Amino acid sequence: MNKANDRLVEVELVVNDKTWNGSLEPRLSLADFLREKLGLTGTHLGCEHGVCGACTVLVDGEPERACLSIAVATNGRRVTTIEGLSGAIPEALKEAFSKHHALQCGFCTPGMLITATDIINRGACLDEEHIRRELAGNLCRCTGYQGLVAAIGAVAKREVNHGDA
Ligand code: FES
Ligand code: FES
Repeated sequence: MNKANDRLVEVELVVNDKTWNGSLEPRLSLADFLREKLGLTGTHLGCEHGVCGACTVLVDGEPERACLSIAVATNGRRVTTIEGLSGAIPEALKEAFSKHHALQCGFCTPGMLITATDIINRGACLDEEHIRRELAGNLCRCTGYQGLVAAIGAVAKREVNHGDA
């Protein structure tokens, strides 16, 4: 028997509402699994050590750094990447990011949209200070954050008031 195969681990997980099963190397990161095995390259890799937030995905609805997560640890869990992020809040955020100039190169944008969706869902956008604190784990080298904070604040306010973002 092939010795390399002895080290593979059988996993089954749901990615963007589709079940995937197969064998993975135990040390493969979730980010590399998503990007290289599934072709979901919207999960960006920046620092690759948990600092920049570009690789943020949802695992069972909670944000995780895909560069620090081990793919086999998601066995039996549900992963949502930017490609599968859907619903009223993400759609409103995309429009608001455009309207408030909350992106330039776009490298941080997938992770920002996932984090922003989570913080709005948690009702953690009470004011600008809260939004800035919640965004502290997602780095953007382009925008100066003003547009991001404005866009997220507008959608959060709309969720509360049912007004326009
Ligand atoms: Fe994962 Fe930077 S690439 S946190
Ligand atoms: Fe360029 Fe955020 S838009 S890093």
